[in-house]
Amino acid sequence: MSTMNEGQMRAVRIHNYGGSEQMELESITVPKPAAGEVLIKVHAAGVNPVDWKIREGYLAEVIPHTLPLTLGWDFAGEVAAVGQHVEKWRVGDAVYARPDLSKNGAYAEYITVSANEIASKPKTLSWQKSAAVPLVTLTAWQALNDIGQLKQGDRVLIHAGAGGVGIAAIQLAKQAGATVYTTASSRNIEFLKSIGADEVIDYTQQDFSKLADLDIVFDTMGGEVLEKSWATLKKGGCLISIAEIPNEELAAKHEVSANFCFVQANSGQLSEISNLIDSGDITVEVDSVFRLDDVAKAHEKSESGHTRGKIVIQIQEE
Ligand SMILES: NC(=O)c1ccc[n+]([C@@H]2O[C@H](COP(=O)([O-])OP(=O)(O)OC[C@H]3O[C@@H](n4cnc5c(N)ncnc54)[C@H](OP(=O)(O)O)[C@@H]3O)[C@@H](O)[C@H]2O)c1
Repeated sequence: MSTMNEGQMRAVRIHNYGGSEQMELESITVPKPAAGEVLIKVHAAGVNPVDWKIREGYLAEVIPHTLPLTLGWDFAGEVAAVGQHVEKWRVGDAVYARPDLSKNGAYAEYITVSANEIASKPKTLSWQKSAAVPLVTLTAWQALNDIGQLKQGDRVLIHAGAGGVGIAAIQLAKQAGATVYTTASSRNIEFLKSIGADEVIDYTQQDFSKLADLDIVFDTMGGEVLEKSWATLKKGGCLISIAEIPNEELAAKHEVSANFCFVQANSGQLSEISNLIDSGDITVEVDSVFRLDDVAKAHEKSESGHTRGKIVIQIQEE
């Protein structure tokens, strides 16, 4: 899809916080890359729960935004222009990233991003699949490797294994040589075993809190799931949540460490992730693909909380 007029692009923005009806497909000016930035022609954008959480205004106190705001913080695309002092990237390079959450996002034909945030996209993946990778895989990497210091032989429980983060986490944990337990509903059991889960606990039938002596619990749910997770860890074990800041007193009571992970852009880690994908060690699961003018349906699907893998917005024709 080409831009409508010279210097103009289509973008999905909100002018007020609220429901999916707040998102408007508009024609706006293509941004210019500042020094240290690149302009990206976006081919596809990933949809993540943070998109509708920001849309609703739930994170307004944590991440200061100026409205109107273009949503979407995951993309794959090609470098269309480079700003001053950018040495590493050339026009035409195929890249992907999780750009800065405090700036305009990637539900748009173009986005400007810091040259330090992007990496070459996996060569073996389509634009759509590439756009499904950065945010969730960086999150799983930073939680398990940077915080959890996951190592061979560890026993790890990954909650919501069939979600975007869960699918990435299961595969990274298997790569590290861990034994992987995960939770999901019945329809996802065989799929999760096929990507490496050793035991899938059907949360609609079974109670995961029968597990014990785990080295790491990766909590992607919060609430009751987080509460019931403490007792599954061994003394000295490590709980990492991306859903809720864990209670330090409960951590002390169970003699485990408690951590909250908030994903950060990291170009070096994304490059390593591209290599793992191109060598066949990590596969990418796309639940569904929507067009830019159907973004409200994409958000409604994400908000349902029961997708398998990622929702993607296709922006250019493949
Ligand atoms: N702090 C951070 O930096 C950070 C980064 C990324 C994500 N997050 C947050 O982490 C959460 C997960 O993100 P995501 O992208 O993986 O979400 P997602 O893709 O929307 O997760 C959907 C999955 O959750 C599963 N699920 C729902 N209820 C469940 C339950 N009770 N037990 C086990 N699985 C359940 C569903 O499986 P079934 O269909 O089988 O029910 C579905 O596959 C979101 O709240 C997101 O905002 C935080």
